[in-house]
Amino acid sequence: GVAPQWAPAEGLVATARAMVAAGKGILAIDETPKTISKRLAAVGIEPSEEQRKAYRALLVGTPGLEQATSGVILQEETVHQRLADGRSVPEALAARGVLPGVKVDRGTAPLALAPGELVTEGLDGLAGRLEEFAATGVRFAKWRAVLRVGPTWPSGRAVAANAHALARYAATCQEVGLVPIVEPEVLMDGDHDLVVASRVSQMVLDTVFDELQHAGVAMEAMVLKPAMVVPGRDGPPASVEEVADATVACLRRCVPAAVPGVAFLSGGQSPRRASEHLAAIVRRGPHPWTITFSFGRALQDEALAAWAGRPEQVAAGQEALLAALQRNQQALLPT
Ligand code: 13P
Repeated sequence: GVAPQWAPAEGLVATARAMVAAGKGILAIDETPKTISKRLAAVGIEPSEEQRKAYRALLVGTPGLEQATSGVILQEETVHQRLADGRSVPEALAARGVLPGVKVDRGTAPLALAPGELVTEGLDGLAGRLEEFAATGVRFAKWRAVLRVGPTWPSGRAVAANAHALARYAATCQEVGLVPIVEPEVLMDGDHDLVVASRVSQMVLDTVFDELQHAGVAMEAMVLKPAMVVPGRDGPPASVEEVADATVACLRRCVPAAVPGVAFLSGGQSPRRASEHLAAIVRRGPHPWTITFSFGRALQDEALAAWAGRPEQVAAGQEALLAALQRNQQALLPT
């Protein structure tokens, strides 16, 4: 039989819409301790817990953050971090009208019978963890699936396993009262061209939305976080206009109009290029969904370099973050 569509609470839909409010983006600062330690070390900062906390406090304390930012995706350790004034990070963000969110997947593991491919883990005990996060004031969650592109990748089973996990995660979020960010990242590693990237992205998004519908996920109360459709880093380059055309075509074919917003990840593109692509995608509107950004590296790279782990350069780091946010905010303006 056909189960009735689960109706999300009005508040959940309102939160999803607020996450993609016009002219604002979602700041991703949810790197695992291992990944952020690598990024700190790469610019000569001691990768200690203390420096991680100092860096996250710098980012969330940026004056003017709320002008350009609807929400911030936090790592679990940052959800529990106390700031100098004693408040938790989610409390401090909420007080400024910024929605706090958290990455809840547990990273990737090799997928059985799919050599070289990965599946994202973290479903066991997820409902209980989400309830605990909701009690800290967190309003939305994120789960990232990664799909590699290669001669035999992604395999049907890697796409299916990752899409299924994303759907179970998203349904669990909605049941607990958190908005799921659904992130199926098609990686830009490799030498494939734009045509292959388009074909893979379309297959992945088709499968993801099929699984979301099967799981009963309310399209109105979620946000999609896809990669832009770009050729592989070592493949034949494509122009900004070609990337925007391919990305918009793919989304229009695959993403239901009921989804309130599409918030792109930057995926290792240079910060400037990511902004140029975003602007060109927006220019092709009006779109059925709000288009925005949910960048990690493309927002943080310059801030991290400007701070360089020095207490006297906190303001410089914050100015660099704000400048990157404003550059992308500009890209959202219809021209
Ligand atoms: P990037 O923009 O650096 O790809 O990070 C966004 C993100 O949240 C990846 O999961």
